[in-house]
Amino acid sequence: MISKRLKAIASLIDKNSKVIDIGTDHAYLPIFLYNNKITTKITATDVSEKVLENSFKNLTKNELENKIKLIKSDGFNNVCEKYDIAVIAGMGAHTIIKILNSSNLPDKLIIQSNNNIDILRKNMNELNYKIDKELAILDKNKYYNIIKYEKGKEKLNNNQLLFGKSNNKNYYKYLLEKNNILYKKTKNEKYLSNIANLQNIIEKILD
Ligand SMILES: C[S@@+](CC[C@H](N)C(=O)[O-])C[C@H]1O[C@@H](n2cnc3c(N)ncnc32)[C@H](O)[C@@H]1O
Repeated sequence: MISKRLKAIASLIDKNSKVIDIGTDHAYLPIFLYNNKITTKITATDVSEKVLENSFKNLTKNELENKIKLIKSDGFNNVCEKYDIAVIAGMGAHTIIKILNSSNLPDKLIIQSNNNIDILRKNMNELNYKIDKELAILDKNKYYNIIKYEKGKEKLNNNQLLFGKSNNKNYYKYLLEKNNILYKKTKNEKYLSNIANLQNIIEKILD
């Protein structure tokens, strides 16, 4: 059974698209995509040989070792083919930003960073990608921001850089609570400004 987070990522993948999962780890996402007939054109990569041995075992358990391609690669370095969409998920923003420094990026990307999401949003802007869809998913008491990008320009305002473009009211309420706690602790004015901005965002989202 794959996580709610990975299922949400899978929900953003266009049917029958050619997909590459960068940093696949257990290959859970590729296996889910194949078994649920979302697409059969899947490559999974990882920088670690050891991880790939495990991925291969999981593919074999699912009789998919001849269906899903595995590549050992640091980011896109050993990736020669072109893909419709790449998934880069479950890593820190700085690792993701390094991986994005490639001339072989597809026109569509699904990004899920474990931290510094505002820095990543800014970086994606600078790389001329715009947000197509953003999800804020609660999985085992933790929120994950999953962003589907497509080629194109967009100017994000400060609120969008900080808080994203999801439509999840509960996520913004969670951020509001977090900023309230941080303000009480530190009395730092930036949290007061975040609180006002988040209240504004929450009021505008219909139930
Ligand atoms: C925490 S796992 C995330 C697995 C999966 N993508 C997910 O979202 O559940 C991170 C994986 O990324 C791999 N990784 C880290 N840096 C990488 C890089 N530069 N290129 C490819 N894989 C990388 C690690 O070896 C590890 O298997």
